[in-house]
Amino acid sequence: MAATPTPLLLLALPFLFAALAAAQPRPFGGAPPGYARYVTDATATGVEEEYDYIVVGGGAAGCPLAATLAGPGGGRVLLLERGGAPAEFPALATAGGFVRTLALADPSPDSDAPAQAFSSEDGVPNVRARVLGGGTAINAGFYSRAHPGWFHGHGEDAEVPDWDMRLVNSSYEWVEQELTFQPEVHGWQAAVRAALLEANVTPWNGFTVEHVTGTKIGATTFDASGRRHSAADLLAFARPGRLHVAVRAAVTRVIINPIDPAARRGRSRPAVAAVGVVYQDRLLQQHHALLRPGGEVILSAGTLGSPQLLLLSGVGPASDLASLGIPVSVDSPDVGKHMFDNPRNGISIIPSVPIDHSLIQVVGIPSANGTASYLEAASYIVPVSPMLRPAGPFISPTSPLYVTMATIMEKVPGPLSEGSLWLSSPNPMETPSVRFDYFSRPEDLAQCVVGVRRVAQVLQSRTMDIFRSAAGTSSQGRRGRARRDFRIVGATLPLDWSTNNTAVADFCRRTVATLWHYHGGCVVGRVVDKDFRVMGTQSLRVVDGSTFSVTPGTNPQATVMMMGRYMGLKMIAERHSRRLVNTSSYSELQE
Ligand SMILES: Cc1cc2nc3c(=O)[nH]c(=O)nc-3n(C[C@H](O)[C@H](O)[C@H](O)COP(=O)(O)OP(=O)(O)OC[C@H]3O[C@@H](n4cnc5c(N)ncnc54)[C@H](O)[C@@H]3O)c2cc1C
Ligand SMILES: *[C@@H]1O[C@H](CO)[C@@H](O)[C@H](O)[C@H]1NC(C)=O
Ligand SMILES: *[C@@H]1O[C@H](CO)[C@@H](O)[C@H](O)[C@H]1NC(C)=O
Ligand SMILES: *[C@@H]1O[C@H](CO)[C@@H](O)[C@H](O)[C@H]1NC(C)=O
Ligand SMILES: *[C@@H]1O[C@H](CO)[C@@H](O)[C@H](O)[C@H]1NC(C)=O
Repeated sequence: MAATPTPLLLLALPFLFAALAAAQPRPFGGAPPGYARYVTDATATGVEEEYDYIVVGGGAAGCPLAATLAGPGGGRVLLLERGGAPAEFPALATAGGFVRTLALADPSPDSDAPAQAFSSEDGVPNVRARVLGGGTAINAGFYSRAHPGWFHGHGEDAEVPDWDMRLVNSSYEWVEQELTFQPEVHGWQAAVRAALLEANVTPWNGFTVEHVTGTKIGATTFDASGRRHSAADLLAFARPGRLHVAVRAAVTRVIINPIDPAARRGRSRPAVAAVGVVYQDRLLQQHHALLRPGGEVILSAGTLGSPQLLLLSGVGPASDLASLGIPVSVDSPDVGKHMFDNPRNGISIIPSVPIDHSLIQVVGIPSANGTASYLEAASYIVPVSPMLRPAGPFISPTSPLYVTMATIMEKVPGPLSEGSLWLSSPNPMETPSVRFDYFSRPEDLAQCVVGVRRVAQVLQSRTMDIFRSAAGTSSQGRRGRARRDFRIVGATLPLDWSTNNTAVADFCRRTVATLWHYHGGCVVGRVVDKDFRVMGTQSLRVVDGSTFSVTPGTNPQATVMMMGRYMGLKMIAERHSRRLVNTSSYSELQE
């Protein structure tokens, strides 16, 4: 399926790079970030060290997990992140740098860019984080919790963890106290809010982090001065001396050894255990990090990274591993299977009146149980290519090179359509091949059709009229009065959008893009058990978005970070009691 230009794809055009790469002043000076005391370059770490917990991937899940495991009651923790620290990249600090960071995303495994571009086999351009903080250091900053039903599982889920909802709530709160803010909503976002209400996405819920039916303002990780807060900031909660964060540390494999049969009580117990990891610094020096007795390796390398590392470590479908020449440690047929990405489709316009830059602040949730597409909006100040003008008839030939583009988009929840991931190279820095098979399930396509119609209704609202421009002479209204119309960038809706399902479905397929909420590959009940342990192994877990078979809420980062905190507390409690303790004992750990 071919992707048509979407705002972000347009930006990938190489000739824009020079303008975007122009040096920007460092927006915030001052004290070093709170995580700095823990961070060293991997070249400065020992070639062999021992830890209680080794967390692979310093992203949305990995940072809160490592901070918690190195907190009260915890142990000695190593966090390994293949990218650099966010403070090295000034563009990451502001919402204005969002588009710039994506435009400069580099697919090369050797690049230092904090976003790594890739294209799925579906032909849809995409990016993944390559920096401490993971997605939270490069994303749009919108923060919203999962809908309550998510914790109880969905139609086709094999299994869901037995979530302790009190601990879930307190873990969300822990993240929120440090990272989230109430945004000031004006300009495009305020207009979208009014238009959503006009299009009957009601009630109006005001500002809330809860997932509730209607229109709401969510939290943001950009503070009042516009500075981004990321999961890396949560590292400051670690006890000094317990946490060591190595950046530019690319984990190449988990070391998985057979368990001594004498020590292996019970034949049903796993026959292999993780004993450590191998990682490589930027000078290609190999390091070994090994577990102390009772320790664990936790993969938090994200939806692409975690299944990739399991495969590279011999945990995966035996026949695939054998054909790649990787010795099989555990035959686990579902590693890299069940890969999902929520389709995003939208309409982008060049508004007739000036508007500010805004990332997502307002969302429309037409139904509480996650069965209707979510509506989100953004506006970007972007340079538009003269080359694009012939393709975009609504862009006036006299338009300036830099324009503001505003987008209203819908995201299909779930989704049900799923694909798979496979190794295209033994290099762990290379993005594995992945196919998401967007819209392979008719239910997803039907959702998109309904969602796109809602986008059209929002655009048709009276509130949106001020963003229409006088149309050219070719489109005079019946009364000879110049009609006002939207200047659309990229694909336009079919004229019969309100009645013709086939035409809207074609639009969905033609314009599908990603909202970067991809998940799966190490799904609960198939690759990991309800405690996120890799089935068939000991002392190895996966804690990140790769374990999800349905994306949580309108946007996932809240729940991914919550999960890191939650699992950190669970693991510490297990460490102390070697049994699951009740929630009243967690409060002691949370002081
Ligand atoms: C452009 C963009 C915009 C987004 N906007 C939003 C938004 O506004 N709101 C929202 O809720 N969500 C948003 N998301 C999604 C959200 O950021 C992700 O769902 C979330 O970050 C996933 O968390 P994770 O821990 O699973 O993986 P990540 O956060 O991606 O973390 C994985 C980390 O592991 C590291 N890693 C991978 N392999 C290795 C290896 N071999 N060795 C060492 N380290 C490794 C990576 O470099 C990365 O830092 C956005 C994502 C993107 C990319
Ligand atoms: C968790 O928080 C939600 C939303 O605030 C609330 O509805 C629910 O009752 C809470 N659950 C528990 C167990 O505290
Ligand atoms: C979800 O809610 C809608 C109404 O808001 C209802 O029509 C639908 O049946 C619900 N679906 C499920 C799976 O509960
Ligand atoms: C609906 O749209 C499709 C695809 O554009 C077109 O082939 C078909 O004729 C349209 N149907 C009607 C009833 O106009
Ligand atoms: C829960 O933990 C508290 C404190 O550790 C203890 O007093 C209580 O008996 C425990 N309750 C159960 C049901 O185990």
